[in-house]
Amino acid sequence: MSHLLPLSRVARLVGQSRHALQEMIRGGTLATFDGMVEFDELLRAFPDVKWDDDAELRRVNEIKDKAFAKRVLERALPDKEVLAARLTELGNDYAAAKALLAHYANVMTWLDEKIDEIEEDGSEETRHALHTVRAFLLRNLAEAPADAALAQALIARERILRIMSAHVTIQPSGHEFYVEGNDTLLEAALRNGVSLNYGCSNGNCGDCKARLVSGEVKKVHAHDYVLKQAEKDKGTILLCSYAPVNDVVIEANVAGARDIPVQQLTAKVKSVEVFNPAMAALHILAPRSQRLRFLGGQAIALRVNGAEGRYAIASCPCEDRHIEVQVPRLAGDAFADALFTRLKANDTVEVEGPYGEFVLDEDSPRPAIFLAFGAGFAPIKSLIQHAMSLDLAESMDLHWLADAAGHYQDNLCRAWTDALDNFNYFPHAPTDDLDATLRAIVVDYPDLHRFDVYAAGTIAELDAAREHFMREGMHLARWFAGAIDA
Ligand code: FES
Repeated sequence: MSHLLPLSRVARLVGQSRHALQEMIRGGTLATFDGMVEFDELLRAFPDVKWDDDAELRRVNEIKDKAFAKRVLERALPDKEVLAARLTELGNDYAAAKALLAHYANVMTWLDEKIDEIEEDGSEETRHALHTVRAFLLRNLAEAPADAALAQALIARERILRIMSAHVTIQPSGHEFYVEGNDTLLEAALRNGVSLNYGCSNGNCGDCKARLVSGEVKKVHAHDYVLKQAEKDKGTILLCSYAPVNDVVIEANVAGARDIPVQQLTAKVKSVEVFNPAMAALHILAPRSQRLRFLGGQAIALRVNGAEGRYAIASCPCEDRHIEVQVPRLAGDAFADALFTRLKANDTVEVEGPYGEFVLDEDSPRPAIFLAFGAGFAPIKSLIQHAMSLDLAESMDLHWLADAAGHYQDNLCRAWTDALDNFNYFPHAPTDDLDATLRAIVVDYPDLHRFDVYAAGTIAELDAAREHFMREGMHLARWFAGAIDA
């Protein structure tokens, strides 16, 4: 069994974010070997973790699930074939460890006999030395090391994690995620906000073809797509039909905004959430057979009974079939009128999209500032949730400059702050003096050149903000703007 653990698994074991661990590595309080952490180092660096009690980890995960508005994950067991394969692997590890112990016992017996032999012929001095060695060995073999119980609890917890989930690394992008329960590789990737290529999601089109670089997978859903023998020989698999048995490395393309085609689908209204008379959210569900592919920050066009509108998506691509848009009530807007007065659960909505390139730079590990002007909160919310699911930015600061609709999801932003160490929320009251507010924001960032800035608002608001941020050192290339209608 390997005694080296990847950083993402360590994060799960100790209930900390990867960024917090990277901070420890940089500060010299956690040692790594080729990016991996040894069991002993883990015990040394986290002396206070109760390895046999994961209540704290559960609590943080519950808060996170709530804060991300994700559907409650089924904590289902893995597919039975996958479970059997993982248990077989665990059994093999156990058998190998037992065989090794039996070998060590034989070596000790042989050593004991040798000491007897030498003692018989040896001098007084030799006999005394051998007696000391034998006493030392017997004493140490009889005594369990001081941290044996901790090590045992850590190994047990790590083993349970390995049975319940497998770690996936995508090459060449470097994305990482875990496959839990009976998810396929594709389902787990989408749940974690990783936008892999796919089409039908049920084994017919072949669009989700990828190459298994290392590790083992099992087919968990039958598929009709015929993989040629030459493809199979090269390790080609269908992401929508396979699940990992153990930790795997997969070669697959991660889609950017330009790679995702415009799709048309008919969705059902799940609910209408009226925040206040000026702002409401529409929650819709895509059909099981045709989920909408999009990236956080993109927009969709909606049509219902002849009324139409184009809105930024406010939800995360990781939320399975759920899509949220936020609609301000503007005079003469027929779609907003329908939403505030007539739309109800199970009504039909035509959806077309996604549109736009206001998306995360997934290659950037920089800290991020999110600037939401009024209803620009919708795409910013989507981006933040997407960044959270990808565990992307070193830190995230949200500045929400409210308009007359106010901070209508203030509680959600505060929940993010409570749940995440690297998230800060700064609400700014409506004002006539936008420049003064922007000046007050940038003054708190003397190192703006280090940051990515994502801003959503009207063109005038974005122009003003860009000017202030660039004047204080932001690089234009690190400015990402999404314009919304005034
Ligand atoms: S998405 Fe169509 S075969 Fe996998």
